[in-house]
Amino acid sequence: MDRVIIFDTTLRDGEQAAGGMLSIQEKLEIARQLEKLGVDVIEAGFPISSPGDFEAVRLIAKEIRTPVICALAHAQPEAVDRAWEAVRKAEHPRIHVFLSASDIHLLYQLKKSREEILGMSRDMVARAKKYTEDVEFSPMDASRTEPEYIYQILEAVIAAGATTVNIPDTVGYAIPDEFGGLIEGIFQNVPNISQAIVSVHCHNDLGLAVANSLESLKRGARQVECTINGIGERAGNASLEEIVMAFKTRQDFFNLTTNINTTQIYRTSRLVSELTGFMVQPNKAIIGANAFRHESGIHQDGIIKMPITYEIMDPRTVGIPASSLVLGKLSGRRAFKERLTELGYSLSEKDFSHAFSVFKELADKKKEISDRDIESLIAQELRAVSEVYHLDWVQVSCGDRGIPTAAVRLIAPDGQVLADAALGTGPVDAVYKAINRLVGVPNVLTEFTVKSVTEGIDAIGEVLIRIESEGTPYTGRGADTDIIVASAKAYMNALNRLLAAKKAS
Ligand code: KIV
Ligand code: ZN
Repeated sequence: MDRVIIFDTTLRDGEQAAGGMLSIQEKLEIARQLEKLGVDVIEAGFPISSPGDFEAVRLIAKEIRTPVICALAHAQPEAVDRAWEAVRKAEHPRIHVFLSASDIHLLYQLKKSREEILGMSRDMVARAKKYTEDVEFSPMDASRTEPEYIYQILEAVIAAGATTVNIPDTVGYAIPDEFGGLIEGIFQNVPNISQAIVSVHCHNDLGLAVANSLESLKRGARQVECTINGIGERAGNASLEEIVMAFKTRQDFFNLTTNINTTQIYRTSRLVSELTGFMVQPNKAIIGANAFRHESGIHQDGIIKMPITYEIMDPRTVGIPASSLVLGKLSGRRAFKERLTELGYSLSEKDFSHAFSVFKELADKKKEISDRDIESLIAQELRAVSEVYHLDWVQVSCGDRGIPTAAVRLIAPDGQVLADAALGTGPVDAVYKAINRLVGVPNVLTEFTVKSVTEGIDAIGEVLIRIESEGTPYTGRGADTDIIVASAKAYMNALNRLLAAKKAS
């Protein structure tokens, strides 16, 4: 069986998704989880694009030792130099140079000739090669580029030292058979192609990113660029979990394998969703809430008799926790610790004590606490950004008579207790207005989603919001059995991120 290199670009192309901004610490946390997942390459960012991106790549390169750490650079000397500066401390550094190749981009965007593009590509690969042995090159918009020109570029960059040549379907335009044909053509027409790994990078504008990637891998590509939950620019990138599980489930067809520890897929997906604020749609393959749920009576009957009747994958292979009820009010520290260990968490004594006291508070309100409740609790308590303002309490009055009213009390950074009240069109609006009166940072609420973590009337409600201030989006998340309190927590979470970012800049 041939092994496919999994190149994860969640932290670069994934973060390019509109509104998906991550802090440096959040990127590091995702990188640690990607290492546990077993990805071969982490594209950690585009260092020249911002000081924050540079710092994130630098820290990831310093800490994460097993995968290759890759930094993106457009084909300009200063971008290549900056990429190297960021990635040089990595155990296995890579520089990824890209430049547009299609006539559409050359004519309307770059205003350069094919010869100039060829020269720049070759020169920038050669420049990167002086820094590191591991250099990747991407002719951007390859799927809309004349194949003969792609062959010429690839031959030139391989001669200049590229060890991986990546074929991007930048605008998600390709159709599987056609894209597979392009890959086959590359193997047949680029004389020195055996000196490089052929990679593919597909976008999902027509919903074909995974299909295009699989077809190319079937026809000889051996690296695939993908993201967790398929997040990325516009409609996103090919989804890592779908590609990996296609190989695992249909080994008979592909005869390809990866280094991925599939039992880490679910946790990685949850982490990326929590930190980016992009919820996973319920019907999303592999990791959606309904992916392993059977509704029809005939299907349920089959599953009870023999799961293979209607289940092509065992949910445990992707690490989906059993939704069995586990803990309750009488559960002690030991039972809670054991459950956390089973779910893959290892907390410091301080974090554990904090999580346990929150668990006890929850157990007072909710009779049975499931694995999903515990996950939500950990996400909420341990990944909280350091607070500038702390929500002390919130009280609302609402209904179909009278005006919704909210009172809130916050603890300010200097320890001062601040309280105020406001009216609103609804209870959440009233709470947000009361908080605004105290914090006083102008922003616009652009997204508000509420969902329940588990079934049942006493379920935890999870609220996810996005606010925008001076053109920058900030996400916030809050969880509580009371959705108004969860909404207040989510807003405070987003405001604290906004204030921390302002302070940092
Ligand atoms: O979609 C694209 O073309 C890219 C390149 C930078 C590889 O993301
Ligand atoms: Zn892309």
